[in-house]
This record gives sequence, structure tokens and C-alpha cells, in this order.
Amino acid sequence: MSDKKKQVTRRQFLNYTLTGVGGFMAAGMLISPLRMAIDPVLQPSGDGDFANVGLSVDDITTEPQPVEWEVEQVDAWYKSDVTRKAFVFKNDQDEIVALSPKCTHLGCMVSWEGSESHPDQFYCPCHDGRFTKDGTNVEGTPPLEPLHVYEHKVENGMLFLGKAYPRGEA
Ligand code: FES
Repeated sequence: MSDKKKQVTRRQFLNYTLTGVGGFMAAGMLISPLRMAIDPVLQPSGDGDFANVGLSVDDITTEPQPVEWEVEQVDAWYKSDVTRKAFVFKNDQDEIVALSPKCTHLGCMVSWEGSESHPDQFYCPCHDGRFTKDGTNVEGTPPLEPLHVYEHKVENGMLFLGKAYPRGEA
């Protein structure tokens, strides 16, 4: 083995030191704006929140009725009020059901009893999609999955709706 010592020259020392300090300063300058840019994305969204839809539970019948309410939507750093819609009714077990009116084919809005030839069904006019009253997609029509179901709760006799979830395959 050689006994030669590896000496760091003054030039190398200055290079190492300046590179280290420069890198540290550059990282400090980049982290702050980067954090500001992505911070809203890291915040939890309000999607899981329940909203009072202005409907008394006593007014819910077995007939699907449309309800609308507004929620504040946070999209990265942009906040906006968004209108949500649902069809609300009581099923045969006297349970409250809230269905999203968004067709699971390509997203048009369905209406209740919108088709003269198929009363007592949800009807999508875009491609003649149909759903039975409980939201199940009718076989042979374009939608391949049931209407999504809103989570709901009742407080002080009023209906609160949260987020709509897929119900799974029919
Ligand atoms: S979007 Fe509803 S059937 Fe196509």
C-alpha cells in the first residue's frame, strides 16, 4: 500500500464548500414556492361532509322527489359552490334512499318517470338508459352499473346527504 496522503487542495476545498452552500440555498429557495403550489392539494377535501338538503324527513314519500343543495368544492387552490342533486324516497322497508341522478353510462341526468313507455323507472334521454326505482340499471340499456347512492343521516328531523358512492354491479 502506498503511504501517500490524499491532500485536499485549497481549490478543491473551495469548490466543495461553495457547491454545498449553493445547493443548500437553492433548495431553500425552491421548497417554499413548491410547498405553496401543492399545499391546497394536500388539504383534505370537504367531499365527505354532510349537508342539510332542506328536506324534512316527514315530507319524504315513496315517490322519488328531486332535491338540490349547494356545497363548497375545493379544487386545489380554487373554491367554488357546486350544486348537487339527488332523488330521495322511502323504499318498501321504510328506509330513506337518496340516488344520484347522474347516469352511469356517460353522465347525463336521469329523470323519474321520464319515459312514457316505461313509467316507474328512471330514464336517461341521452341514449335511452333506464334504471328501476331502486337505481338498478335495466339490462339491455346502455348503463352497466346502478345509479350511485348518497350516504345520508337524519338530524333534528332534517335529511343530510354526504357523498354518492357506487353500489356495485347489478
Ligand atoms: S348517458 Fe345515460 S344512457 Fe348514455
